[in-house]
Amino acid sequence: MPKTYKIAVIGGDGTGPEVIAEGIKVLKSASMKYGFKIDFAYFDFGGERYLKTGEVLPDSAVDDLTKFDAIYLGAIGHPDVKPGILEKGILLRLRFELDQYINLRPVRLYPGVDCPLKNKKPEDIDFVVIRENTEGLYAGVGGFFKKGTPDEVATQVSINTRKGVERCIRYAFEYAKKRNKSNKLTLCGKTNVLTYAFGLWERTFHEVAKEYPEIKTDYAHVDAITMWFVKNPEWFDVIVTDNLFGDIITDLGAMIQGGLGIAAGGNINPEGVSMFEPIGGSAPKYKGQNMINPLAAICAGAVMLDNLGEKSAADAIERAVMDLTATKIKDLSAGKMGFSTTQVGDMVAKIVG
Ligand code: IPM
Ligand code: MN
Repeated sequence: MPKTYKIAVIGGDGTGPEVIAEGIKVLKSASMKYGFKIDFAYFDFGGERYLKTGEVLPDSAVDDLTKFDAIYLGAIGHPDVKPGILEKGILLRLRFELDQYINLRPVRLYPGVDCPLKNKKPEDIDFVVIRENTEGLYAGVGGFFKKGTPDEVATQVSINTRKGVERCIRYAFEYAKKRNKSNKLTLCGKTNVLTYAFGLWERTFHEVAKEYPEIKTDYAHVDAITMWFVKNPEWFDVIVTDNLFGDIITDLGAMIQGGLGIAAGGNINPEGVSMFEPIGGSAPKYKGQNMINPLAAICAGAVMLDNLGEKSAADAIERAVMDLTATKIKDLSAGKMGFSTTQVGDMVAKIVG
């Protein structure tokens, strides 16, 4: 009996369902070629459902999703819904309740992709950001006092627990070891100002480092790292950081690897159910036009297979994408690819299969 994976699919909003459809095409092709099966189950969570029913996420959703091997997500965010409702009510809620404490975001410049950095080549841009995904300023701790008055006070507290910080840092050391590229792990923080939060990160980092003598450790302040990403991206191998800094630096990472059209990531609970997504948004203005680039969603599918243990199939998808960027798809932006969304999916599926 071939191995069967149960995958929950949340196409979500805007162009999410379109890019996910191409990802599924590629995953099916990979599963046939590499001898496993995937059963997909579809969930309609997102802005449209919310506008129709008033419900962001049914209470049963989290329980239902724990029955799957992984979740494959398109995009969350709808122009007719106030910012925050869907993002917090679906994306962040799933990350938190499924305890997906790692946000893994590879930053890799593929051959042939136009890079905005002068003289940087694929060998110069190839690192991975490991973002803590359940704590920090995203924890939702804080509130208003005297709201709407001239004396209004608003607080938003960064929560950093020893357990949360340590499990993230430990994952990052293990990842750097397994990746075996330059065996280097950089902590990105702000130890010169946020002395409490990053004091805990720094102490934990050095304690855990003692267990990994083969990994070189390095530190960069978050402001400085944005500078190095542009000037010397080749310095980096694996970077570990908190939730907000990770959010910010991975958008910059996406740009130096050619844009949001290619950037993929995973929300990982190493002991539970993980969720994989292209890191760009729902791009509502391109919805339904068969114009958006599905490569980021396709690459998220590869990250998912890698995590499920199907490394050969995952590598084959990544190679197929590299083959296309090197030969056919020069411009990754919507409408400029020279191909439609579905044509790009077809081409990758064909190369993989
Ligand atoms: C991301 C996104 C989300 C985040 C938003 C949509 C809540 O920007 O996945 O990076 O801030 O984490
Ligand atoms: Mn972001």
